[in-house]
Amino acid sequence: MKKQIKYKLEGSLQISGDKSISHRALILSSMALGEAKISNLLESEDTLRTIKILKSLSIQIKKFNNEWIVIGNGTNGYMQPIEALDCGNSGTTARLMLGAVSTNPIFCTFIGDKSLSKRPMTRVTKFLNKIGAETVLTNRDYFPMTIDGAEDPLPLQHKITKASAQIKTALILAALNIMGKTSIIETRKTRDHTEILLKYLKVKFKLSKQKDNSTKLVFNGPYEIEAKNIFVAGDPSSAAFFIVAALIVPNSKIILKNVSLNKTRIEYISVLKKMGAKIKLVKGKKRAGELTGSIQVKYSKLKAVTIPKNLSPYLIDEYPILSIAASVAKGTTIMKGLEELRYKESDRIKSIYNNLKKLKIDCLVKKDDISITGSEVLPNGGAKIKTFGDHRIAMSFKVMNLICERQLSFDDLECINISYPDFNKHLESIIIKDGL
Ligand code: S3P
Repeated sequence: MKKQIKYKLEGSLQISGDKSISHRALILSSMALGEAKISNLLESEDTLRTIKILKSLSIQIKKFNNEWIVIGNGTNGYMQPIEALDCGNSGTTARLMLGAVSTNPIFCTFIGDKSLSKRPMTRVTKFLNKIGAETVLTNRDYFPMTIDGAEDPLPLQHKITKASAQIKTALILAALNIMGKTSIIETRKTRDHTEILLKYLKVKFKLSKQKDNSTKLVFNGPYEIEAKNIFVAGDPSSAAFFIVAALIVPNSKIILKNVSLNKTRIEYISVLKKMGAKIKLVKGKKRAGELTGSIQVKYSKLKAVTIPKNLSPYLIDEYPILSIAASVAKGTTIMKGLEELRYKESDRIKSIYNNLKKLKIDCLVKKDDISITGSEVLPNGGAKIKTFGDHRIAMSFKVMNLICERQLSFDDLECINISYPDFNKHLESIIIKDGL
């Protein structure tokens, strides 16, 4: 590597609360009975959307001494809102709240920003319609949309073939208020924070592995859930940006503390290890049922890997930052079967490709596969990155910026607030200048 980078990354960091767990902690507490205190909740644009929507549904939520207090109103406790429920940029708020309101006899209008209004919703509503909720979508698939919750929702068996924790969770949230047995089969296992939190809240349901390797969940509702305090573990997807940063900036050595080590979320660490990354996980205690721990990372010389399609549900949020790792790895990394990336906050296949091209990184897209050949020299930089309003694209290229000969500029970095408002502060805190 030609350029002498005049800094390294060193020190320890507490990563902000996990986005997926934060949404679930808020929604499940709103469906419980009594008061729950939530600590380490991620306070980002996405999770604040969920809070605002729950308030519109007459749930009392307030912040007191760094904790969020939610007064739950039961699984059928949402009241008719007087305003449209604005999910902003948040797909998780949208899909989960659709499921949560679908079994309450209320009429809701859902809206979102430009990006969310291009993301498909029938993947969830087709199931909610079967249980009796009535939905009207724009152009049959999109926000703005209305949902008329079912008065007597039906207990059914659902089979989800698209690997999506949002679809699964929408159906679980609905099942909590359905009289009788609801079965939810997912052909490919997805992140299981909802199931873990429900167990922590002592909700009884059955989970079994089927012969064909699918997972079956059986709920027998309606449930009365007793509120319980929840500590939100640190976000492994947010940790990924710092991990790759430390791997690619020479002489770096960092420790990330209190991160969720949930198996369905840390597949990217196995991928990076295959690439030669020096990463050590130290298991710690369980927080609201989730295994947490610390992650030690040292600068490493990376080599290319091929990432098979079957891993895509477990890496879905980390492909942008894995692309940055691939850009400096020796050889050609191939990431296969990324179709779902097209339906995220931006079309991430396009966002990754366009920006790597600007950096003259050798990148090829063939259908839903991306190949990236690592550069032997540091990227020249100097380009203007287009983030497409996508937080993970913005943070990934901020990490790339650390090793560019010339600084990158960005059209929009505000979008980082969607999932990680403290990102810049945290990154600055581990940059040790002239320390070599
Ligand atoms: C999430 C599930 C994933 C993920 C998203 C958060 C969740 O989406 O990409 O950031 O909290 O359930 P899909 O369910 O669409 O795969």
